[in-house]
Amino acid sequence: MYAALRSIGSYVPKNILTNHDLEKMVDTTDEWIVKRTGIKERRIADTDEVTSDLGYKAALQAIERSGIKTSDIDMVVCATLSPDYLTMPSTAAMISQKLGIKNVMAFDISAACTGFVYLMSLAKAFIESGTKKNILIIGAEKISSIIDYEDRSTCILFGDGAGAAVICATEDKNEAIVDVLASADGNFGELLITPGCGSVNPIREDNLDQRLQYMKMAGNEVFKVAVKTLTKDVVDILKKNSIEAHDIDMFIPHQANYRIIEAVRSKLDFPLEKCAMTVAKYGNTSSASIPMAMNDLYEEGKIKHGDLMLLDAFGGGFTWGSALVRFAGKNITN
Ligand code: UT7
Repeated sequence: MYAALRSIGSYVPKNILTNHDLEKMVDTTDEWIVKRTGIKERRIADTDEVTSDLGYKAALQAIERSGIKTSDIDMVVCATLSPDYLTMPSTAAMISQKLGIKNVMAFDISAACTGFVYLMSLAKAFIESGTKKNILIIGAEKISSIIDYEDRSTCILFGDGAGAAVICATEDKNEAIVDVLASADGNFGELLITPGCGSVNPIREDNLDQRLQYMKMAGNEVFKVAVKTLTKDVVDILKKNSIEAHDIDMFIPHQANYRIIEAVRSKLDFPLEKCAMTVAKYGNTSSASIPMAMNDLYEEGKIKHGDLMLLDAFGGGFTWGSALVRFAGKNITN
């Protein structure tokens, strides 16, 4: 049995936070943000719109496009760093409840911005082992809920959104997810971290006063490791599978910063038109960034049945990974 990516879907909240809005909130400028990151605007969920709502809407679209009945889904996994609840219930359980999916395994994974690549690996393994047949994977983030809007080094970067995919069992090797490589190194943990509200810095007034509940990032140090790691990821997976860069129909890297994407793209000689670039309109949506970018390309008719996609992600942990994935869904019809 092989695992096939049958569909993609996404959900983008309607509220737009522009660089000019941020100029009124922290000491920054539109010019600085565009020059250093490529980001022009990002989406922010409504106060009463939570991570599982975003994930649910993306999942609904992915299920509709998959041709699979909701009742045939036998596992739901969500990657998120901004879950509905800190410990339980899981965001995947909340999404399942909203979809009316009952009596199947539902759980979250914590792999920050690499979450969607980890989910690919997980879905592939569960299907190839014959354990599951139709798996719903979701990257959903209401990152605005863990961002300090007084910290200009992080608040300009992130946005909310969700992406989802349905991965199904197939006997056709030509439809299969080809390979996934993924890793982590906790030695870099402190460079990108939400220090508060866990067992290290529990929910206590003194910790909250120090704003430890919000994400912190040593941006410049993260940047350097990200470029090196994302480049190596691509070289490794292409070499392992004897595939050349020109065999890739669409390169979909994590959308954190256009300078990182450009550095990796140009080093590996992917033409501009074969590289996803959505960071300007969504900012960094962590685990949702790759499926949101994939969905946009799909809706633009740039990803078609049989196309070979290369995913490449890097994030807190540090975590990183790459995936060679065929699009095994139906072509978009407008
Ligand atoms: O998704 C997970 C992985 N995350 C990433 O990959 C993000 C990686 N990092 C980055 O994208 C970039 O490092 C940033 C966009 C976060 C920062 O860009 P940078 O070119 O690395 O800038 P920097 O941190 O070295 O800061 C340069 C200057 C500093 O001022 P001085 O010390 O030169 O006077 C900062 O204080 O820019 C200042 N600065 C800002 N100025 C205006 C930092 N943030 C801002 C800001 N507006 N928002």
